[in-house]
Amino acid sequence: MADNEKEIAGFSKMGKREKIAWLAKNFLYANPVEVVKEFAEYWHDNIESQKLLDGFSENTLTNFPVPFGIAPNFKINEQVYAVPMVIEESSVVAAASNAAKFWLSRGGFKAEVLSTKKVGQVHFIYHGAKEKLFSFFNSIKEELKQGVKHITIKMEERGGGVVDMELIDFTELEKDYYQLRAYFETVDSMGANFINSCLEEFGIQLCDKIAISNVFSDTEKDVEVVMCILSNYTPECLVRAEVSCKISELGTFENGTVSAEEFAANFQRAVNIARIDPFRATTHNKGIMNGVDSVVLATGNDFRAVEACAHTYACRDGVYRSLSECKVENGIFRFWLTLPIAIGTVGGLTSLHPLAKRSLELLGNPNAKKLMEIIACVGLAQNFAALRSLTTIGIQAGHMKMHLTNILASFQASDEEVEKAKSHFENKTISVSAVREFVESLRK
Ligand code: MEV
Repeated sequence: MADNEKEIAGFSKMGKREKIAWLAKNFLYANPVEVVKEFAEYWHDNIESQKLLDGFSENTLTNFPVPFGIAPNFKINEQVYAVPMVIEESSVVAAASNAAKFWLSRGGFKAEVLSTKKVGQVHFIYHGAKEKLFSFFNSIKEELKQGVKHITIKMEERGGGVVDMELIDFTELEKDYYQLRAYFETVDSMGANFINSCLEEFGIQLCDKIAISNVFSDTEKDVEVVMCILSNYTPECLVRAEVSCKISELGTFENGTVSAEEFAANFQRAVNIARIDPFRATTHNKGIMNGVDSVVLATGNDFRAVEACAHTYACRDGVYRSLSECKVENGIFRFWLTLPIAIGTVGGLTSLHPLAKRSLELLGNPNAKKLMEIIACVGLAQNFAALRSLTTIGIQAGHMKMHLTNILASFQASDEEVEKAKSHFENKTISVSAVREFVESLRK
């Protein structure tokens, strides 16, 4: 098929069935009727609900279902939560639930929001004397803030707004490049649109004010705004989560063959390895993000923003490190993490997506700070569960047990075959080939 048959004008104007049929013909080489039927199976029965979902994106064909699960027994700052988690990876919810239950009887999780500042940037080019720009910027800072009052007024009523701004000189790295960096408090909203609107206004006003000032020459007045956008790096929107107990309270592991002291020492060493080696740190942090992302998603927040920020934060001292830390001293096991999490509990999808709304309700309709604490605790729980398995029985035993259902589904196993396989593999090593063999033996 010629490649130009794969090109199209007006795709977005086509109806859903038409889009799917065109894709089936040109990309899947399949029967359009069958493909339309398959995609249509995931359409919402309720037309209004489907309209709502379609509105979240563009060129939608259908919905992509991902499991929505619950990790109960999360005791956080003395309050018990059943935490909603949206994730497709088997064993993540089970691991979180397991860790939550483990810490439930050991005092639970303690969490605290350390700061809530968000960041935005106006990147601009100015050809002129530095000192002049800095002194002018300092003289108009307050005016700039006042100039966005029409945008900030509602946010200020809720306790937020523009907190501060500074001018940064990057000219040694990029010719004539400066940055207006602004700091915001967005209270219970993630605040992306609010911040971006303020920044674009700052950009316009900065240029206007320089243009009408008699301090600058004509060349200096020729300021060029490169871009205005929030930064997803928010190292001062920080939450800390911790668990701790007496070492003796950890109990024993691997049927009593590993003592609490041995476990604590091995666990601490595993965390230290992730603090010194970026290869291990990446996987270690991925485990934390398994927990973090799934709650961020369940509550209708932007998991890409949270991910990007977490990894930048993980290399804040120049080396990519574990986000969590562990200390075993004076008979106490302490395990904690600090993580920047920019999320909201109002605005965006949080109130539009019916299940995100339900998730927040399940969590007692928390404000943004409380949700930051919950998310951080789930990340820490996930990390604890992974390291507990890794430093004791290994990860595969649990992983493959949970994955067994997926393997069986890939062989279209019947309910009876699934039950038989589950009991057969109770005490055996699970692998795709072992499961295939077992299912084939049943079918003979
Ligand atoms: C798998 O999704 C996450 C783990 O690899 C995390 C870790 O190794 O710490 C188990």
